[in-house]
Amino acid sequence: MVTFKILFTRAVPSIATEILTPYCEITQRTPDRLMTPREMKAGLRGKEGVLCTLQDQIDDDIMAIEPKLRVISNFAVGFNNIDLAAATRRKIIVCHTPGVLTETTADLAFALIMACARQIPQNDRITRESKRFKKEWGPMAFLGADVHGKILGIIGFGRIGQAVARRGLGFGMKIIYYTRTKPSPEVAAQLGARGCSLEELLSQADFVSLNCPLTSETHHLIGEKELGQMKPAAYLINTARGPVVDEAALVRALKRGVIAGAGLDVYEHEPEVAKGLVELENTVLLPHVGSATMDTRNKMAEMAAHNLLAGLQGRVPEYLVNQEVLEVLRIK
Ligand code: NAP
Ligand code: GLV
Repeated sequence: MVTFKILFTRAVPSIATEILTPYCEITQRTPDRLMTPREMKAGLRGKEGVLCTLQDQIDDDIMAIEPKLRVISNFAVGFNNIDLAAATRRKIIVCHTPGVLTETTADLAFALIMACARQIPQNDRITRESKRFKKEWGPMAFLGADVHGKILGIIGFGRIGQAVARRGLGFGMKIIYYTRTKPSPEVAAQLGARGCSLEELLSQADFVSLNCPLTSETHHLIGEKELGQMKPAAYLINTARGPVVDEAALVRALKRGVIAGAGLDVYEHEPEVAKGLVELENTVLLPHVGSATMDTRNKMAEMAAHNLLAGLQGRVPEYLVNQEVLEVLRIK
C-alpha cells in the first residue's frame, strides 16, 4: 500500500492519527508550539500533505519549498491563513472544517455578549480580590446592561451568525443582520431577522456580533467611522477574525467612550494582544477559543483527517475550499 508522508504542524485530537496512520507516515512537531516559517519549511520537506492550523501562515513562499505538496488540510473553518490563489496555481488542494464548530463558536459569541453586558470577568476579579464585597455592594454598584429584549446586530449571517441569532431569539432579542448573500426567506422568518445596511445595523444594535470571514472586502470593515456610528451604550463582539476590526481605532473608541465595551476572541496581530486592549476595563478578552471544546475539536480532527486522506488518495475532499483546483487537476 502507498504510504503518504504528511506533517501535523500541531498536536490534534488522536482521532486524526487513528484515521491517517494506516495510510500515512506522520511527522508531528514536538514540543507542541507554533512553528516559525523556517521550521515550517524544514517540516514540509518531502511531505505530500499537511494538517495545519489557523495560526500557520501558508503562503506561496512556504508552498514553494516542496513540489510534492498536494493537500493542505486546515484545522479551522476560516482559511484566510492560506494563499488560495498560490495553492490552486501549484495544484494544491485546500480543505477546511465547516459546520462542526458552528454551535460551539456561537456559544462563545453569546458568552461574550453576556460577559460584557454583566461585566462578569470584572466582577469575578473584584470578588476574588476583595474576598468580601460588602463595602463595594450597593444599589448603584456593579451595574451592567440587559441582554434580553435588546437589538442584536449580526454582520455575516452564515452558519455561525445564524446560530448566534438563534441564541439571541431565545433571549427575546430583536435580530437584524448585514450580510453578503441573503439567507432564504424561510430562515430569516424563523429567526424573525431583518436584513439591513451596515450603517443601519451599527446605529441600531445594542450588541454587534462579527461573524463574517476575513477577506479583502472585510479587512477593517469596522473602523473609526463605523465605531462612531454605533450607540454609546453598545458592545462590539468579535469571534470572526481580528483584522475585520481596525484595532487601533477600537482602542481609541473604547477609551473615549464612543462605545460601551468590546468582547474579543480574535486580534489583529495574533497571537499578540494589543496593550491598549489589555489596559482597558471595558474589554473582555479571550485567546481565540471559539471552537475550543473537546467534543468539537474531536469532530474537527476527524473532518480534517478525512479531508487530507481524500485529497492524497485522488478523491475530492468533502470540504474542499479551492474548487478551481479540480479543473487544474482535471478531477471530476
Ligand atoms: P459562513 O457560513 O461562510 O458565514 C460567513 C458569512 O459572512 C456568509 O454569510 C458570508 O456571505 C458573509 N460575508 C462574506 N463576506 C461578507 C462581507 N463582505 N460583508 C458581509 N458579510 C459577508 O462561515 P462561518 O462558518 O459562519 O464562519 C464565519 C467565520 O468565523 C470564519 O470565516 C472564521 O473566520 C470565524 N470563526 C472563528 C472562530 C473562533 O474560534 N473565534 C471559530 C469558527 C469560525 P457569503 O455566503 O456571500 O460569502
Ligand atoms: C477558528 O477560528 C476557525 O476558523 O475555525
